[in-house]
Amino acid sequence: MKIIANIAKMQEFSRQVRLGGLSVGFVPTMGYLHDGHLELVRRARTECDVVVASIFVNPTQFNNPADFDKYPRNDQRDAELLLSERTDVLFKPHADDVYVGDASTTVAVSGLTDSLCGPGRPGHFEGVATVVTALFNMVGADKAFFGEKDFQQLQVIRRMVRDLHVPVEIVGVPTRRESDGLAMSSRNARLTEGQRKLAPVIYRALNAAVDAYIEGEDEAVAVVDAARAELSSVEELEVEYLELVDARTMKPAETADENSVLAVAALLGDVRLIDNILFARALAPDAAFDACEAHAVPDVIEYGSH
Ligand code: PAF
Repeated sequence: MKIIANIAKMQEFSRQVRLGGLSVGFVPTMGYLHDGHLELVRRARTECDVVVASIFVNPTQFNNPADFDKYPRNDQRDAELLLSERTDVLFKPHADDVYVGDASTTVAVSGLTDSLCGPGRPGHFEGVATVVTALFNMVGADKAFFGEKDFQQLQVIRRMVRDLHVPVEIVGVPTRRESDGLAMSSRNARLTEGQRKLAPVIYRALNAAVDAYIEGEDEAVAVVDAARAELSSVEELEVEYLELVDARTMKPAETADENSVLAVAALLGDVRLIDNILFARALAPDAAFDACEAHAVPDVIEYGSH
């Protein structure tokens, strides 16, 4: 595995790979890797010839600077895990190179960011969309892989790629869970033993909502109430939001259907956990789920002779 820090070298590496007719798969991360990240690498490995993973703890997506400082880091372990999954390149750019001096350009995706994590984390999605755009320009990938656990982020990135015609295909990968259903996350390591035992209530609640839907309930309020009832069984859990939204718009849904996503953010102590369930995936686990309008395929017109 190569470790590249220099942005020009990264761009040149990908250019050479693609000139040679091979595809580049890209997994952007902020490090402190767990099996959910490695699942993205495995997926990239099956779909692309060369796999690049980046580790960059992006300061602009933290609305609280203390969270950025506290963000867990373990470079040596991350490198070993990526190597064990046959990653070809670990890209670790320096913050001063990513954000040059008086950098003043940002990428903001409106609408999709008005709900769920958007209002409570001002600037977060702008920081994500900006750094992901920059990383795409540095890595030059054919496909990029993101987890469905951060579903709103995934939809924001899909929209940004569509709207700015970024030449990369976005692949959403189903959430990886512990055996008791807790979604894998770097934050789980900060749960106390007691909190860790309580945390799976989140996934049970999401499933309770889907069960209600399968049993014939389609009023959003009633579907959400089924989840809320389950969450309320753990009084230590402080729910920040629990909302049924349409996956294509991220706007609140009045009735549940196969485009619905039930999303939750909740605090256990000071650990903020998020999770969601895509109704389409819960109903047909193996079906591809994109929930984004189709890209227009441009015609190629041959004009004159060569
Ligand atoms: O999901 C993450 O780890 C980050 O938001 C990302 C996409 C790597 C951008 O910093």
